Amino acid sequence: MLGLYIHIPFCKQKCFYCDFFSEKYNTIIAEKYINTLINHAQQFQNNKIDTIYIGGGTPSILSLKQIKDLLSSLNRFFDITSTQEFTFELNPESISKEKLQLLKSYGVNRLSIGLQAIKDETLKFLGRIHDFKTFCNIYDIARKEMFNNINIDLIYGLPNQTVQEWQKSLENIMLFDSQHLSLYPLTIEQSTPFYKRNIVTNDNIQKHMYKIAVEILEKKGYIHYEISNWARNGKQSLHNSNYWHNFEYIGLGAGASGYINRNRYKNVENIKNYINLIKDNSDVKTENEYINNKLYITEKIILGLRLLNEGVDIDCFNDFNLKKTLLECLANKTLKQKNKKIILAKESVFISNQIISKFVITNF
Ligand SMILES: C[S@@+](CC[C@H](N)C(=O)[O-])C[C@H]1O[C@@H](n2cnc3c(N)ncnc32)[C@H](O)[C@@H]1O
Ligand code: SF4
Repeated sequence: MLGLYIHIPFCKQKCFYCDFFSEKYNTIIAEKYINTLINHAQQFQNNKIDTIYIGGGTPSILSLKQIKDLLSSLNRFFDITSTQEFTFELNPESISKEKLQLLKSYGVNRLSIGLQAIKDETLKFLGRIHDFKTFCNIYDIARKEMFNNINIDLIYGLPNQTVQEWQKSLENIMLFDSQHLSLYPLTIEQSTPFYKRNIVTNDNIQKHMYKIAVEILEKKGYIHYEISNWARNGKQSLHNSNYWHNFEYIGLGAGASGYINRNRYKNVENIKNYINLIKDNSDVKTENEYINNKLYITEKIILGLRLLNEGVDIDCFNDFNLKKTLLECLANKTLKQKNKKIILAKESVFISNQIISKFVITNF
């Protein structure tokens, strides 16, 4: 399996919690950026791509022409004849029926919509520029345009958000019957406005909200397949599952990461430098790490344990120290053996970070 991730580092404005790499959208710079992406893609010619994910930033902020230029270039450089999943991330305020039709015509078969919250007051608090009604309209249009694989992103555990409010939000979201849901606890990242305003979150409340989500979504028939991700049967994200399986992917664009031939790399996180480096035929990689066997196994364990039903092959724990930690976790029932796989025990999902980090420490 080989994935392709394309980063679109533009947003209309920065949300108060977000530290993902993106800058203010400017149509001239975006035009140059798309041309640069197309030039960059030539370095990876003829690869057969199984999954594509265009993320950001805000990919939907691109103009119709920019989206068309980008999508129409893909089959020139890659073999996408058997691509199974093609996701495009969108923000409710910057998508339109025309853009959705264009995406459909180029084979996009999965949408990921950043809703984040359903109360307009909360959306404002987060620094979002859409309201709930805009989301509802766009969701409706997407369904009418025959998109039948849609993910919705929500953030929970916001200051002043009560458990009852969160429960109501989830019940409301269930009415949309989306195929996929990604739920993230608010994290306060350094250098964000929330950090500067000393906004804090409460671990216990976030844990409680997570438990409620697990219960509600299970009752509604969603499969909790990854720590923060739920899907209808067969609609688990293939692209993201490939990350958790530690499979390879090409990363195109400023700030994008990739993993090819056991090398993990990250492209320069600066749009101007990225454009200039590609123009000069220079290397855009700023970080490039060879993943040796020891690191490979550690990564397989820490990524694989996130997959709640699949888990990790027991063979990954052959090393003396890893086996010792595994036996401790099996003894205290935080991990479970299921045939030849090791998975998180049901209750451990709520403390997954603590358990997973034991294997990181063990192997370094
Ligand atoms: C990089 S964002 C891109 C998605 C899209 N631009 C949007 O804003 O909806 C991917 C997702 O990460 C989540 N996210 C980003 N920063 C976060 C934070 N500080 N805490 C929790 N979730 C966060 C949000 O749910 C967001 O939809
Ligand atoms: S959350 Fe999305 S829209 Fe908001 S700043 Fe981050 S990438 Fe941009």
